[in-house]
Amino acid sequence: MKISVVGTGYVGLVTAAVLADLGHQVIGVDHDKSKLDKITAGISPIYEPGLDEILSRTIANGNLTTSTSIAEATKQTEVVFIAVGTPPMADGTPDIRAVKAVAASVAAAIDKPTIVVNKSTVPVGTGDLVEQIILDAGVSPELFTVVSNPEFLREGTAIYDTLNPDRIVLGTSDPGAAEKMKEVYEPLKAEVLVVSRPSAELIKYASNSFLAVKISFINAISRICEKCGGDVEEVSVGMGMDKRIGSQFLKAGLGWGGSCFPKDVQGLTKTGERLGYRFDLLTAADQINNEQTLHFLTRLQSRLGSLQGRTIGLLGLAFKPNTDDIRDAKSLEIIEFLRTNGATVVAHDPVAMPNTRQVHPEICYVDKPADVFSGADAVILVTEWAEFKNLDLATLKKVVGTALLFDGRRLWTREEAESAGWEYYTVGV
Ligand code: UDX
Repeated sequence: MKISVVGTGYVGLVTAAVLADLGHQVIGVDHDKSKLDKITAGISPIYEPGLDEILSRTIANGNLTTSTSIAEATKQTEVVFIAVGTPPMADGTPDIRAVKAVAASVAAAIDKPTIVVNKSTVPVGTGDLVEQIILDAGVSPELFTVVSNPEFLREGTAIYDTLNPDRIVLGTSDPGAAEKMKEVYEPLKAEVLVVSRPSAELIKYASNSFLAVKISFINAISRICEKCGGDVEEVSVGMGMDKRIGSQFLKAGLGWGGSCFPKDVQGLTKTGERLGYRFDLLTAADQINNEQTLHFLTRLQSRLGSLQGRTIGLLGLAFKPNTDDIRDAKSLEIIEFLRTNGATVVAHDPVAMPNTRQVHPEICYVDKPADVFSGADAVILVTEWAEFKNLDLATLKKVVGTALLFDGRRLWTREEAESAGWEYYTVGV
């Protein structure tokens, strides 16, 4: 099938690459020509394991092409995905101006039956808005339909998630469009759920917010554990064995960050406000999340007495492993807290150092994780990259100033750290 994907950010690029790899003829559209040049050279502008290979393959076999023109792409294809960013505005409301602008450009070019698919995470009602924009441009209602098709991929496992979705959600009341969209995804053999457009839009926000609440819940339990002698990891295992609860997204740590959870929790809270419902549960989850890292840092501060003049090593900067994304990463909060309290920060991340350097040029970046330890007064594990697990803690104890390990993600066990001579602190115990 001939498909355009407008926007080559995380969601758009992965969607375009995977659909092309499944055999569709896909045009990836972006106004940023330099991004498209990279893509056509088989180099992903974002760090995502496996993406370069798929880009090279699909560019070489001709299934994936690129264009800076929404009009040209729309004219050549029967399905147009909108996958542009919807960043939060100052008050937390998602900014959907880019979605509206793309809808207007698509509308101006529609000259044959076209399915316009909203893949961007947008507040409920945006599908109606997109439809209205296209109608206002004078396009006959018989010529187009707007489908909501939210994306559930996670950064770092985006290719796997796109190829193996738990479900494909299609929001449409048009049976013909639903059938056509099922054809797009047919090679995946995935379960397809067809619902109304508002329901589809809400499924995305509700799913992400629910997962964020789940993490905040276990982080709240971690605070209770710290006071009562329990261990949150044991509690989490015990809870997760209940099939009704499930074991995923029950890992206590420094809290959730990234490009989706913070934005979507705020977005759904705002949607509630707009519709006259105060979503206190989400406000509380957000508050627990904001307190989680601060609480951990306060423990470090009280252990050291003062952070003034101390050198603190940070292992990991990305908001989670296998990504270079630092949007709403806990590392940023940590760097700000440490700097405000007079500490010197030395950090390492396998891939997120260039991004972090742009916002925090003042801290010291080291090429090897072991160098974070040299002369440090304490080391904080911020992101649980697998390679950090292999660090030789016994050898590193010899180069560190004070052997204080603050493990924010429970990467090591107390036994591992203590037997290597470290004083060990972690979340929820
Ligand atoms: C999330 C959703 O999982 C995905 O379906 C959606 O499309 C986009 O948002 P992503 O933000 O890439 O994906 O990362 P995810 O793996 O979900 O982790 C989000 C945050 O929660 C990270 O900061 C992670 O460290 C944290 N987390 C996750 C926990 O603290 N504990 C857990 O048990 C799981």
